[in-house]
Amino acid sequence: MNKKQFFMIPDEMKGNEWWGFHWLEHVTAVPAPLVLVTGYKENGLANGTMQSWFCFSNENNFYCIFGSVNKYTHMYEIISKKKQIVINFPDRTCIEKCMDTVANNSYDMDELSASNLHYRDGSKVKAPVVNECFLNLECEVEWEREIYEGSIWSDDISYLEKTYWYHAYMTGKYLKRKDYFKLNHVLHTMYETHMSVLLVGFDRITWGGSANKLHFIPIEKQAHLKKYYCPENLDGVEQNLISCMKWFQEDTQEICKLKGLDYSAYSVDTIHSNELGYCKVPSE
Ligand SMILES: Cc1cc2nc3c(=O)[nH]c(=O)nc-3n(C[C@H](O)[C@H](O)[C@H](O)COP(=O)(O)O)c2cc1C
Repeated sequence: MNKKQFFMIPDEMKGNEWWGFHWLEHVTAVPAPLVLVTGYKENGLANGTMQSWFCFSNENNFYCIFGSVNKYTHMYEIISKKKQIVINFPDRTCIEKCMDTVANNSYDMDELSASNLHYRDGSKVKAPVVNECFLNLECEVEWEREIYEGSIWSDDISYLEKTYWYHAYMTGKYLKRKDYFKLNHVLHTMYETHMSVLLVGFDRITWGGSANKLHFIPIEKQAHLKKYYCPENLDGVEQNLISCMKWFQEDTQEICKLKGLDYSAYSVDTIHSNELGYCKVPSE
């Protein structure tokens, strides 16, 4: 047997679109069963999502563990809010129709009917059971956990921007109220989103968690991240935050340029114009 060792992504795989997944997930997902996970969206319409990265286990009950769920899918919204799904197993007679749900993916669409699939409500859960599939597991969501604490690492800059400024806005009221715990929590999210933006631009290694990757980004950017902390008496937090927001804005701009993405400063304007905002990005 001719084995090859890969510690980094091989050249022939570079440049592929991984849709937010790790390249090793693509390597190791073959062969793996495929399922169509169904549920109802907030508007009541049926949703279908193909899933491949999962396994089953038992601990006094039977569980399916989905190991890699994209957070921008309708499925993620359904498991977060409605918490009821059906795991449908297609065979070769209906796999193409199930795959069609990937293209028939608009929010205002019954994704199953649009893909010529038929369904009824589950007998135990409010989620669609697909008739064409030979096995249907009606499930309730038990828990969701990040692989490591606080990991919201994402490479969608506009999502990260929105998240950052939404939380930056909240710092104002918590600073005024001197609410240590809420402020600390919000600072943590701002740290994570700023870190994610930096990794989009400067990540140079393909292994390890985000904490490890941060050792390899420019040293001055590392120093900026170290300002997101909350001392017991809140001394200096406001000044640090103002600096952090400026750095975040500059970093986002720089990374958008680096990646050839459009930069929009809409969220920063919102912070400026909102009277309740306490920490505002100073205008130059
Ligand atoms: C064969 C196949 C396997 C997939 N496996 C996964 C998976 O394991 N995790 C995931 O998040 N997305 C996976 N996807 C992508 C989703 O199915 C896809 O993003 C889908 O359009 C999301 O639908 P939704 O927004 O209606 O939930 C897979 C897609 C295909 C075609």
